[in-house]
Amino acid sequence: MSKIFVDACLGKETPYTPVWMMRQAGRYLPEYMEVRAKAGNFLNLCHNPEMACEVTLQPVDILDVDAAILFSDILVIPDEMGMDLSFVKGEGPKFSDPITSEADLDRLIGGQEAANKLTYVYDTIKLIKTKLADDKALIGFTGSPWTLATYMIEGQGTKTYNICKKMMYSNPELLHKILRKVTDVVKLYMEKQIESGIDVAQIFDSWAAAIEPSKYDEFSWQYMVEIAEHLKAKYPHVPIIMFPKGVAAFIERGLVYGNFDVFGVDWGTPMAMAKEKLGEKYVLQGNMEPCRLYSKEATTECVEALQEIMGGKRHIFNLGHGILPDVPVENAKHFIDECHRVSGKR
Ligand code: CP3
Repeated sequence: MSKIFVDACLGKETPYTPVWMMRQAGRYLPEYMEVRAKAGNFLNLCHNPEMACEVTLQPVDILDVDAAILFSDILVIPDEMGMDLSFVKGEGPKFSDPITSEADLDRLIGGQEAANKLTYVYDTIKLIKTKLADDKALIGFTGSPWTLATYMIEGQGTKTYNICKKMMYSNPELLHKILRKVTDVVKLYMEKQIESGIDVAQIFDSWAAAIEPSKYDEFSWQYMVEIAEHLKAKYPHVPIIMFPKGVAAFIERGLVYGNFDVFGVDWGTPMAMAKEKLGEKYVLQGNMEPCRLYSKEATTECVEALQEIMGGKRHIFNLGHGILPDVPVENAKHFIDECHRVSGKR
């Protein structure tokens, strides 16, 4: 059976415009909170294929989105490279021993050995594929090398990125060595996700905006393109979605390049500009401001405006970043229903 989401990613005409939401499996769903309580903590949930499968499928059942996204986290990659990840309540992710030198990097596991340690992710994918309806797609994902490196170098989330940027400007060779090692693991990790059954792959560059536009290609985009092109050469039928958040200036200057299928447009980038610059080459995904979900009227207004701009062609509805935990479920459902309504789903 053909999957409308996969067809749309490949630029084929579809009977309506598919929709999903970044971070659609998560804390705004009471059903998620129940499973997470059973798991004890977030990482246990990622490590348990039965429970990870259950929460992956929840938004498909509850909201009728057109694609499921694998439940996991981008940070399981550095964790399995040997970085000891923990999630501190109220503070987010933490690595106890951030990378400060080449010796620290050399101690990390790389290549196939690291990719082989993520078996629980591959097992989760295989299990989801036995349960997901045939007409729905499964999205696998990774963080971009840059976004992963920010956590590996800072040891946690950051507002200023000062430790990474100190390295960027004073020891760029070390930063490139880190990005190289992560890129090589990510390529093999995504190959294994594809072999396990994902239908589409998304690369999240959540912290793209931390890099000045003239350095963005050097420190992030080129590595993302290398991963995408490696996967497209081996698996041409698997669409690749690139999501660099906060790069309007990079788009506007015409600097986006590479062989991939879908460009994820963040909420700070006008969709009409993205369409003008990228719409012929790439299918566009996005880009409602996630906080519009707090108001049904504001949601409808945006969905109609996006439909007007994109005309139901070469478009996938989504938010311009992840849904927040305090959004009412019925408002999330309203968003999905409105996307289907304006694009003619019956
Ligand atoms: O529906 C989905 O998208 C589910 C899978 C998913 C999670 N994280 C689950 C998660 C995905 C695709 C991610 C990606 C991710 N993780 C990104 C890139 C996407 C983005 O939003 O920009 C980033 C930067 C991370 C790192 C991360 N993980 C942070 C900063 C945090 C803490 C902040 C937060 O949102 O709580 C996490 C934890 C995390 N990852 C949660 C979930 C559901 C919350 C954990 C919980 O308390 O249950």
